[in-house]
Amino acid sequence: MIPIIAIDGPTASGKGTVAQRVAQQLGFHYLDSGALYRLVGLASQQSGIEFLEPLLLKELCLHMEIEFRDGGIFLGKEDVTEAIRTEEMGKRASSAGAVPEVREALIQVQKSFLKPPGLVADGRDMGSVIFPQAQLKVFLTADAKIRAQRRYKQLIAKGISANIDILTKDLVERDLRDTQRETAPLVQSEDAFLLDTSDQTIEEAVNRIIGLYQQIK
Ligand code: C5P
Repeated sequence: MIPIIAIDGPTASGKGTVAQRVAQQLGFHYLDSGALYRLVGLASQQSGIEFLEPLLLKELCLHMEIEFRDGGIFLGKEDVTEAIRTEEMGKRASSAGAVPEVREALIQVQKSFLKPPGLVADGRDMGSVIFPQAQLKVFLTADAKIRAQRRYKQLIAKGISANIDILTKDLVERDLRDTQRETAPLVQSEDAFLLDTSDQTIEEAVNRIIGLYQQIK
């Protein structure tokens, strides 16, 4: 069986960076499932499709030409690596993620990332829905205020202006929508290991996950 490490958790918990480094260190493939929902957010905006039109959204998902290449993300021929990272696309991704037809349409593309020698998958429902067979499931989280501060620093470092109060409010709203939606809500599965990174560095979280993986493999 191809080994899978599923890392789920709320927004700005550090999942993306941690999951990418774990994948790098183990030589595994990496799935950033949030990027797929962000792509739906962007593609639907470009085509003027609203979130109340689930069938149109489903068609859009099934026909999106997505490519992860050279460390970048492409929608058709357009390099959208940066365009999908904005707060606006985060919100649109969260609205898209609440539509069951979108979630269903993205199942196959997510599963197609599973290839030898192994996969680290990061998202909200990796361990609960997409890869329930994962050998290691981690629920990575951190205090909401700390997550908002991390997001703030990231944005400022990129030269994007940000307001910490608005960021905190948006983050709490997004957590609520992600945990309360009917299809595949963000939950810690019973068999997931809880890792709270409020007081941890990225390095510590990465080492902890690799340590856990070495123990079970
Ligand atoms: O992880 P990221 O912040 O890029 O995800 C953006 C949004 O996409 C999340 O807030 C969530 O609503 C949605 N998402 C999801 N299921 C996943 C990954 C992301 O619903 N597996």
